Amino acid sequence: MSDDRKKVIFSAIQPTGTFTLGNYLGAVRNWSPLQDEYNCIYAIADLHAITVKQEPKLLRQHTLEAYALLLACGIDPNKSIFFIQSHVRTHVELSWILSCSTQFGELSRMTQFKDKSAKHTDDVNAGLFTYPVLMAADILAYKSDLVPVGQDQKQHLELARNIAQRFNSRYGDTLVVPEPYIPKTGAKIMSLQDPTKKMSKSDENPNACILILDDKDTIVRKFKRAVTDSESEVCYREGKDGINNLMSIYSSVTGKSFDEITSEFAGKGYGDFKIAVGETVADALASVRDGFNRYINDKAYLKECYTKGAEMALKVSSRNVSKVYHKVGFVDNELYR
Ligand code: TYM
Repeated sequence: MSDDRKKVIFSAIQPTGTFTLGNYLGAVRNWSPLQDEYNCIYAIADLHAITVKQEPKLLRQHTLEAYALLLACGIDPNKSIFFIQSHVRTHVELSWILSCSTQFGELSRMTQFKDKSAKHTDDVNAGLFTYPVLMAADILAYKSDLVPVGQDQKQHLELARNIAQRFNSRYGDTLVVPEPYIPKTGAKIMSLQDPTKKMSKSDENPNACILILDDKDTIVRKFKRAVTDSESEVCYREGKDGINNLMSIYSSVTGKSFDEITSEFAGKGYGDFKIAVGETVADALASVRDGFNRYINDKAYLKECYTKGAEMALKVSSRNVSKVYHKVGFVDNELYR
C-alpha cells in the first residue's frame, strides 16, 4: 500500500538557558528549511528540563526566551505546530503507556542518564531515568517520520524506535517508527576549551561555549581563545581535535568543504583562522539576535502563538493517543477527545 501522506517532522529543545552554537548548528538551524516540505511540529521541552533542578521563576523566563529564540531562528507558527510541551497533556499520558513497553535495562544503558546522574549525585530522580520514554512519547504522539537532532540524541532515538516496534508487535500496527535526521556537518560541536567534550550550556568555563545571543566581540574573543595544538596548518586530521572542531563549525556555517578551507588558509596561521571563524559565526547569528530582541518584547504575540500551537498539538496528539488507549484495552472515553 502506498503512503502518500505528507511526512511528519518532530523535534524539541530544552529551555535550560540560551541555546549554544551546538544547539544551533546541530539542530535548530535545520528546522526552519523543513517547514515548506513537511508537516513540522516543534516544542520547547520544559517537562524534560525539570529532570535537573530548576529555579521555577527562571524556568518560566527561559521557556519564553526559548520560544522567542526559535521564532528568531525562523520557526513560523503559521507553517508549523509550535508549542510548549507542558501545555499538551498527551505527552505525559502516552509516556506512561510507553513506559510499560520499556525495559529497565534499556534505560540503564542510556549514556546521557549515566553522565547526568554522575554529575547530579544529590538528585538522581526517577524522571532523569525515564526521560527517554517521555522523549519517545513526544515523537510517537504525532506519528512522526523524521526527527532532526544532533548526534547526542541518536541513542534516545534508537530507544524510541525500539519502544514503537515493541508496542506494535504486542498490540498491532499503531505507532510510526521514526528515523533520525542528523546533519552531515555540525552534528556534534565540541567545547572550545576541551574539544574532546561536546559543547554544552552547562559547561562551567564560559569560554568553552558560544551562546547564540553573544555579541560579535564576545564570539570573536571566545574563538581567539579556543584550544588548538602546537602545529600551524589548518587541516582536518585525526588528533587535531581543536582545529577539526573549528573546521566543522566553519564548514557548517559557510558550506565550504574541508579541502576548500585548507586551501583558503594555506600559509596563514591559526590566529587568522580563528578570527575568520569567529567573525563568520557572529555574522551568521546577527539576525537571530535582532529577531530575539523583537519577539521577547512582544509577550502578547508570544502568547497568541504558543496558545494556538498547543491547541493544534493537542488536537493531533489526542487523536493518536486515544487510538493507543483503545489498543491497550482501556474502555473508550468520550471525554478524552
Ligand atoms: P537539548 O535541549 O539538549 O538539545 C537540543 C538539540 O541540540 C542538539 N545539540 C547539539 N548538536 C550538535 N552539537 C552539540 N554540541 C549539541 N548540543 C545539543 C541536540 O542533539 C538536540 O537536537 N532530549 C532533547 C530534547 C527533546 C527532543 C524530544 C528532541 C525532548 N523531546 C523529541 C527530539 C525529539 C534534548 O535534551 O535536547
